[in-house]
Amino acid sequence: MQYERLVNWASETWQQRWPDRPYVAVWASAECSNRIAQHQIKPGRRLRGKARYEGLEQLDCSVVVPISDYGSRGRSAVLMGSAGAYAFQFSVEDGDSFEVIYASSYFDDDARDLTAIALLPEDRLDTWAAFEYACARAVRPRIRRRRDVYIIGGTDSFFDPTVSWDDVILPPDLKQNLLEDMEAFFNEGVEIYQQLKLAPFRKLLLAGVPGTGKTMLCAAMAKIAIDQGRIVVYVSGSDRDGASFEKIQRALQAVTAAHYPVLLIVEELDAYLHEDDKARVLNVLDGVESPNNPQGALLLATTNYPEVIDERIARRPGRLDRIFVIPTIEDEHHAEQMLRHYMAEQWSDEHQAVVSQLVGQPGAFVRESALHARMLAAHAHSTQVTLDFLQASVDSLLRQIRSNNEFLARRQPIGLNTGSKSAGKPPFNPRR
Ligand SMILES: Nc1ncnc2c1ncn2[C@@H]1O[C@H](COP(=O)(O)OP(=O)(O)OP(=O)(O)O)[C@@H](O)[C@H]1O
Ligand SMILES: [Mg+2]
Repeated sequence: MQYERLVNWASETWQQRWPDRPYVAVWASAECSNRIAQHQIKPGRRLRGKARYEGLEQLDCSVVVPISDYGSRGRSAVLMGSAGAYAFQFSVEDGDSFEVIYASSYFDDDARDLTAIALLPEDRLDTWAAFEYACARAVRPRIRRRRDVYIIGGTDSFFDPTVSWDDVILPPDLKQNLLEDMEAFFNEGVEIYQQLKLAPFRKLLLAGVPGTGKTMLCAAMAKIAIDQGRIVVYVSGSDRDGASFEKIQRALQAVTAAHYPVLLIVEELDAYLHEDDKARVLNVLDGVESPNNPQGALLLATTNYPEVIDERIARRPGRLDRIFVIPTIEDEHHAEQMLRHYMAEQWSDEHQAVVSQLVGQPGAFVRESALHARMLAAHAHSTQVTLDFLQASVDSLLRQIRSNNEFLARRQPIGLNTGSKSAGKPPFNPRR
């Protein structure tokens, strides 16, 4: 184990430097070997335990290879951490002085996490803890600035930008056009906007019925954006606070303050167009209140209700630059591709029999059918998902949607769908 080798080295070093002084070995904070912290925390700094930090000496350590981890942010590099071995020196008001023998190292080639240990006199643990805390504080603001994804209105679990582009199954030219739009904007467009003295802010809308893959597409676009060194700001109205302009405002502040190009994702844009906030959202889209990030900001908004947007936004040129309609499954080829994807290793050619029934459905329907069929098979202790299981699953899902629709249609007159978020929305009809 690497940490044992670190401790062994440190105790040998301790014996040479402080042969008569007892010590304790402790797990230490990896931030103490970060050069940013070492640069910021100057000798003379007062610490808890009536002590002062006096400086550091870099030590040769056969088991630690000093190496730095730089993360790239656009064109600049940011130091994330460095491994190394040091003697940190401290003096105490009562005339005592002591050292902390410290070493940090990467555990193995795969792990990005630094492991650090320290040896120090047991009665100086509080001073050392204060020093570690100071190092962590010196480093953390930078790491925070480096965050790739900012989620407004929810926690990290609301949005996971790890979806791979190939897992989104949609007509290839649609995907290609969307991706090209983003790349052309960030690579060439931003400069053109600037030449025209316009804030580089482009606005795209993904419109489609529920479950067609809009959120998934946003996540896949976000992954690509992050890989390109851009920052993602994700706004969700689905937490308790709902869709409020205050969230959009916070998002725009994040976009403006970012020192990097930003992909701004606003899910269910239509929900922000209720009476109180409508004018302000339109101002943002019109450019009156739009963010000015010189590196460029691309808005990717989604909606289930293009007709709501249609009236207020789409008919006026310039409010949205492009609308991409994300379709339900258009043909049998697309349906089979989706079904194969979700049946994975359980796919067998007999499943082809249900393919025609999937045309016109959203991707989420296929995923549910496949999942449910696999569960039915498992429940029946069958190792194979036969056509019967799949057909039973498709049938039950279709039945469920039909009865939901009937229920919604019946409820309509007494006011379902009149909550603030969905005010004015037509009821969901997957076949529309
Ligand atoms: N085009 C697709 N390709 C692959 N999987 C899909 C696709 N569409 C939907 N799915 C599956 O269905 C799930 C739900 O889709 P998603 O949440 O992206 O739909 P959505 O269009 O955002 O729906 P909503 O409008 O209700 O927010 C996805 O996580 C994915 O598993
Ligand atoms: Mg969605």
